[in-house]
Amino acid sequence: MIPKTMKAVVLSRPTQAENVCLSEVPVPQVRPGWVLVKVKAFGLNHSEQILRLNEIQADYISKPIIPGIECVGEIADPSDSLFSLGQKVAALMGGMGRSFGGSYAQYALLPASHVFSVRTQLSWTEMAAVPETYFTAWGSLFECLKLCKEDTLLVRGGTCALGYAAIRLAKALGCRVIATTHRQQKLGLLIWADQAVLDTGTLAGSFSGITKALDLVGPKTLRDTLGCVEKGGIVCNTGILGGVYTLNGFDPIKEIPNGVYLTGFFSNYPDQQTITNIFSFIDSHRIKPDIGAIYSFGKISAALSDMDHHKVDGKIIVTM
Ligand SMILES: NC(=O)c1ccc[n+]([C@@H]2O[C@H](COP(=O)([O-])OP(=O)(O)OC[C@H]3O[C@@H](n4cnc5c(N)ncnc54)[C@H](OP(=O)(O)O)[C@@H]3O)[C@@H](O)[C@H]2O)c1
Repeated sequence: MIPKTMKAVVLSRPTQAENVCLSEVPVPQVRPGWVLVKVKAFGLNHSEQILRLNEIQADYISKPIIPGIECVGEIADPSDSLFSLGQKVAALMGGMGRSFGGSYAQYALLPASHVFSVRTQLSWTEMAAVPETYFTAWGSLFECLKLCKEDTLLVRGGTCALGYAAIRLAKALGCRVIATTHRQQKLGLLIWADQAVLDTGTLAGSFSGITKALDLVGPKTLRDTLGCVEKGGIVCNTGILGGVYTLNGFDPIKEIPNGVYLTGFFSNYPDQQTITNIFSFIDSHRIKPDIGAIYSFGKISAALSDMDHHKVDGKIIVTM
């Protein structure tokens, strides 16, 4: 039985984590092309922090908005889709939590095209650590970097949920992995990598044999990362942890070394086949996604605050 109302986080303006609370709002009504998902758990993301603190002011954000770009749960109303009632699903991106209501709610009305069926051995909590983080890591590594087991991969900004996921996938494939952190005290957290390196901001020229690089720090370090890979190597910019979003004055002729390739990944276009492949790879390689902390939905403010203050290492999961 679907209730008439539900608990949700609803934002209209920049909001500090300490001021986030649960409101009682109507459960959204299904319509053709959209399905209602009963949310079981969701992961928190750096981009939701950007939305909550600043981006929410942009015209393209539908306000008031229920944030949250991903969730796992069960189909509560399949509407006119091919999903069945109670089917286990994951959903992510495509405007979720920006153009239409997202996952910080007991129910989410989502376009059927951005909801994917999932078969997995993982628990709801473990499963919630996968959709956005592993889809982004997977796309960056396989679609963009064309990663194969002979590669040596550099993960720049390894101590974030996405970094840990990328390291786990690359190690499961059989690659050699070098990962960096900008904090000396976090070197010991990069246990899944073959080598942990302190990122001083200048790494170009200090390695040999790196064939692929995933830059999660972003434009702040990208020029330098281009100088870390061998001729024929590929650099993929996926993150913006450095807080710099564009490459001002970038001169591709002089700044991309000859024979080095530059690409970027955007997680906005997930598809069923890739989601199926990811969960199958995780199950077959017995990967347990790294979870930094788990909070109940009633503690959402504390979860967001701990994310803002960098208190949690790894993916933060909220369970309903
Ligand atoms: N392209 C896409 O479609 C896409 C999709 C998903 C995520 N992303 C991006 O990927 C990055 C990681 O996302 P996430 O959700 O995995 O993040 P997250 O788990 O929330 O990680 C954030 C943590 O990264 C750490 N960090 C590591 N290196 C850093 C550096 N050089 N500068 C600043 N902080 C650093 C920070 O902790 P310490 O400072 O204590 O180390 C911070 O607490 C973000 O920039 C996010 O926007 C992009």
